Amino acid sequence: MDHLPIFLDLKDKKTIVTGGGTIAARRTERALDAGARVFVFAEKLSADFEAFSANSNFTHFARSFEEADLDGAVVAWGCMEDDSDEQLAQMARAKKVLVNVADVLENCDFITPSIVDRDPLIVAISTGGASPILARTIRARLEVMLPAAYGDLVRFVGRFRDKAMAKLKTGPERLRFWEAISSGPVTEMYLAGDETGATKQLAAELEAAASGKVRPRLGEVYLVGGGPGDPDLLTFRALRLMQLADVVVHDRLIGEGIMNLVRRDAERIYVGKMPQQHTVPQEEISQMLVRLAKEGKRVLRLKGGDPFIFGRGGEEIEALAAQNIPFQVVPGITAASGCSTYAGIPLTHRDHAQACVFTTAHGRDGMLDVDWDVLLRPNQTVAIYMGLSNIEHLCSGFIARGADVHLPVAVIDKGTRPDQKVVIATVSTLCEKLRNENLEGPAMIIIGTVVNLREKLSWYKTRSGSMHAVYSSQEARDWLPGEG
Ligand SMILES: C[S@@+](CC[C@H](N)C(=O)[O-])C[C@H]1O[C@@H](n2cnc3c(N)ncnc32)[C@H](O)[C@@H]1O
Repeated sequence: MDHLPIFLDLKDKKTIVTGGGTIAARRTERALDAGARVFVFAEKLSADFEAFSANSNFTHFARSFEEADLDGAVVAWGCMEDDSDEQLAQMARAKKVLVNVADVLENCDFITPSIVDRDPLIVAISTGGASPILARTIRARLEVMLPAAYGDLVRFVGRFRDKAMAKLKTGPERLRFWEAISSGPVTEMYLAGDETGATKQLAAELEAAASGKVRPRLGEVYLVGGGPGDPDLLTFRALRLMQLADVVVHDRLIGEGIMNLVRRDAERIYVGKMPQQHTVPQEEISQMLVRLAKEGKRVLRLKGGDPFIFGRGGEEIEALAAQNIPFQVVPGITAASGCSTYAGIPLTHRDHAQACVFTTAHGRDGMLDVDWDVLLRPNQTVAIYMGLSNIEHLCSGFIARGADVHLPVAVIDKGTRPDQKVVIATVSTLCEKLRNENLEGPAMIIIGTVVNLREKLSWYKTRSGSMHAVYSSQEARDWLPGEG
């Protein structure tokens, strides 16, 4: 190791920065954040410095620095990017002031690392000056892994530090206790916004640890939306909980790409439902979640799209709430949004649709059960889930109730996935067109003139490199609201 990582206390200490450009501004910002008194020497300052002008710890001298300026300083950053940086380094070393010259390793007593700032939690990354870009890439990855609220979490658990010290006498006891807190329900409750619950839970765990009782681990359930298929569309929170869970209960809609991101050693339970063939009844799934949580497990209930949109997520957490099992819900990108985006079809558009209706055409007992008055309103888009098996009834229903026969329709099969297919037609031509297509589902149906925009706005290339579309329909392109 060429450099020893240490965190320097610069509060109220004199710090020098030379230069008025972007690098100088970044060093200034960092030093001000650490509470230092920062003296900047530069003829002119760039706009990057504007934010610091009101900070009483910031002083600007519109001249070059002189040796005497280093008196009493602890750290000096040379950011002039000319020969004066070398002079600064020599003078600073002569006065035993720690110096750093941007990008010139031999003029550095220390390296300014890339940092992930979740104050008071700070992660510093250095490649020893070999590759600052690599350090930045690693930083970006860590930024994703550490939730924004981590700093607050650290402050929150810090409030209990003295109590834990007083109640738990030995180092190993304290270690076990804090390990359980950092990877258990207290942390998850706090990050999910339940500070009161987290406080109660932490106090109860501390009492149990102090009395030597082994408190049965409290299980919890994460109801997580996995989005429509492309793993890149997962949220940061979804990804973090996928890495944490002991057991995953997953659906048919969750593809391999997403399952690959689940913790490797997590138990996997498939409760997939095929259309018209419910392998595990909903009630059984809900009871399974309750049972697993009662066994003390962190249970990831991973569902396609968003759990609260045609996902029966509400029913599952009702069962958990009834049994006082802690849970949190993570939204996912719903199929209507993912599919329309990847098909280049905006769901709303000022010239086409001021509203969008999400509905399902999967009626009870296979019968179509939709509110036609709502679906036939002008200037809106209709996004239909689970509608492929009822497509003939749907299209003929629209026509029978007076919709224009040229009303455009898109069917997006396996939306956002590498083998996405998009079929474009009208309510009168769609069924014929689908006969040659062999779509496998899941499929999203979008009805409305916004569909015409795909021709201009299509951007997503599937694995075969095509923007697969069964076009041709002049009728679909010509139809505009108010016409015909
Ligand atoms: C039981 S619903 C679940 C919806 C999910 N909760 C959501 O928010 O997307 C299943 C239906 O969602 C639609 N769907 C889900 N993923 C899809 C995808 N990748 N492509 C097209 N449609 C999809 C299909 O209409 C499918 O029949």
